[in-house]
Amino acid sequence: MAISIKYAKKVEKIGNVKLLFADDFKKEKIDGFNLKKIFKGEEFKGKLFDFFLIKIGDRNGYFILIGLGERDKFNGERAFKIGSFLTLKLKELELSSVNISTEIFDRDENLLYEFFSGIFYGDYENNFFKSDKKDRNISIYINNSVGEKRFRKLLDITKSIGNSVNLCREYVDLPANYINPITFSDRVRKMFKGSDVKVDILNLKEIEKNGLNLIKAVSSGSFNEPRLLILEYKNSKKSPVALVGKGVTFDSGGLNLKPTNYIEDMKTDMAGGAVVISTIKLLSDLKEKVNVVGIIPLVENLPGKNAIKPGDVFISHSGKSVEVLNTDAEGRLILADGISYSKKFEPSVIIDLATLTGSAVVALGTLRCALFTKEEKLREKFWRIGDKIGEKVWPMPFDDEYGEELKSDIADLKNISGSKYGGAITAAKFLENFAEGFPFVHLDIAGVVDLKSKKNYAIKGATGFGVRLLYNFFREVD
Ligand code: BES
Ligand code: ZN
Ligand code: ZN
Repeated sequence: MAISIKYAKKVEKIGNVKLLFADDFKKEKIDGFNLKKIFKGEEFKGKLFDFFLIKIGDRNGYFILIGLGERDKFNGERAFKIGSFLTLKLKELELSSVNISTEIFDRDENLLYEFFSGIFYGDYENNFFKSDKKDRNISIYINNSVGEKRFRKLLDITKSIGNSVNLCREYVDLPANYINPITFSDRVRKMFKGSDVKVDILNLKEIEKNGLNLIKAVSSGSFNEPRLLILEYKNSKKSPVALVGKGVTFDSGGLNLKPTNYIEDMKTDMAGGAVVISTIKLLSDLKEKVNVVGIIPLVENLPGKNAIKPGDVFISHSGKSVEVLNTDAEGRLILADGISYSKKFEPSVIIDLATLTGSAVVALGTLRCALFTKEEKLREKFWRIGDKIGEKVWPMPFDDEYGEELKSDIADLKNISGSKYGGAITAAKFLENFAEGFPFVHLDIAGVVDLKSKKNYAIKGATGFGVRLLYNFFREVD
């Protein structure tokens, strides 16, 4: 599938898509149509995602109405979702070209940004293994008063945004027999070849040499060696932001094997890593003036003849010893080494993204991800930006007392708490031990990385959650 947005000097009447606020629907007439007379029932009221197709004439003429909901509730999130909704509808109806005016967004260029990005987001398909792929092209002609030059710039940027989010979705959706630590890092190396992004990949020997013993430990049950992927994009003199992403390409739980109904989704356990590479790709494509390092520990967590056993103790990269009481709490182990390793870049902040706990999903469901930090400014920034663009976070408690449950009898720390409550918080506290001395933000994205069923604005599967959140975080300089 290939969607393209084209600049249109004027809007044609046939094949026209009309975006309509619920408020305008209440007016007597719009474009000469008395909508209230046409729609006597509930079929179209201008509510968000209301959709109506009117056939015109006996040829293939049509006119489409799309509802945007209340004008004062319309924001970047809704603009993005409507953009994607439009693409999905055009695909479903097998339409190859439409004309649309987006002048109602003119009060705020950010709405256009989100709408365009959404259109490209809708282009993604999880059909890598389908033999009956349909390859159609869809052209969306957009008329707007921003001017052609500005329009083209907007188009370039939003296409990059869409592509990067969809890149992330591809990594997450691809099964674990296609994405393992080696194929993941090889792909990333190829992708960044000839770009401004420096790629370093540590293999098992180098992981050992660097004392990244927790990364090695988690991967030791697997035939596939671990990797530590290090990405550097430097286009500013500021100290870097470190992005650390969980890269468990499959999480079986290890010897604490996961049961059916839990294990089959675990190809998505590298979503944090996928967000990090996709965000850095986007920042470098757009030549953003930022300094960022990405650290992605990549492992497969499997039971095998060399697998770690509950009760084993390891000396982490930081020097702290860790008693592994549950091999399924593996994310925090590899992240501990990843976070500790990131300190050598003297980052201004360490931000990690991880599908870390089922407990975060129990707490917040699948709409918002869990945010842990002591940095008030960063908390407000992520919270505000997330709400604006629709990748929403919710601040969680982070009191030091929660960390007391992680004291081990025989080592400095144990990897699970004795309590069955507050698991997302104790996991976050565990990680904080390894970020000591640096501002730290942890995003537990376990609930938001994929959709179990399709929505109006997205197909089932990976969401790419986190890429737009981080991109907008970087775009807003403070
Ligand atoms: N990868 C899982 C967390 C997860 C759960 C991600 C559901 C996505 C959806 C993680 O490694 C894990 O297994 N966590 C355990 C921790 C427990 C053993 C302390 C969990 O949350 O049950
Ligand atoms: Zn696990
Ligand atoms: Zn995991």
